[in-house]
Amino acid sequence: MKALLELKNVSKNHWDINEENSPHFLFAHITATLHQEDCIALLGKSGQGKSTLLRALALLDTIDNGDIYFNGISAKTTDTRAWRKNIAYVAQQSVMLPGTILENLKTVSKLHNSAFDEKFAQELMQNVGLANIDWGKQATDMSGGEKQRVALVRSLLLRPSILLLDEITASLDQQSKEKVEQLLLRCQKEEGMSYIWVTHDTEQAKKISESIWYMEDGKLAIDTRTEQFFENRNVNNWVTL
Ligand SMILES: Nc1ncnc2c1ncn2[C@@H]1O[C@H](COP(=O)(O)OP(=O)(O)OP(=O)(O)O)[C@@H](O)[C@H]1O
Ligand SMILES: [Mg+2]
Repeated sequence: MKALLELKNVSKNHWDINEENSPHFLFAHITATLHQEDCIALLGKSGQGKSTLLRALALLDTIDNGDIYFNGISAKTTDTRAWRKNIAYVAQQSVMLPGTILENLKTVSKLHNSAFDEKFAQELMQNVGLANIDWGKQATDMSGGEKQRVALVRSLLLRPSILLLDEITASLDQQSKEKVEQLLLRCQKEEGMSYIWVTHDTEQAKKISESIWYMEDGKLAIDTRTEQFFENRNVNNWVTL
């Protein structure tokens, strides 16, 4: 399978870099490859820099060393908007723009000068369990779980090659969570989409990933197949999530 996204020696300095006894890096020397149709769960304890890494991959945050390549082309030489059309980030805390749900759904097509695909939007909203929500409602009036799903739909409307998902089911009930998981697995199998999905939910990681990237002590400490990761974890009990 083709290499889609390559991280080469990616490092991010720690904010307190000049303070005595503080670590130099938040993370350092991360080298990894995401191929087309890869589904990766990015795991690690709180504060390891998972969200910061995902934001960096979406060019929403900078890196201090190394480089990121999409289809062999460096992020340093790519237009940010073009990059984000291919690589979409869905945040841990979803942000709704002022205006209605419909206006929020349309933002992506406006930004990228493409037509709004209403039929596709309806299909996606149904798939995430929001078939009956009024699109005329103010987006900021939605519940946390509704906002998370609209934010996901907004990104899927872009038909990105890669989705970067940051704990996107954290405020969802079990049924909605399963709908989202099934939708993303379908996007991967049927559309060839890839994703990196940050989660603290072990059962979810087993369901939605084929590989695990595990961050610890500022490094990508483990990059392995999902079955292998959980087998080793059960045997040695050395990984905390
Ligand atoms: N340069 C930096 N950029 C971002 N965060 C930094 C930086 N230097 C230090 N930090 C700290 O490192 C942590 C990184 O947080 P981040 O949200 O990326 O972690 P996370 O692994 O996603 O955690 P969680 O699982 O709780 O969401 C924060 O505590 C932040 O204050
Ligand atoms: Mg985070």
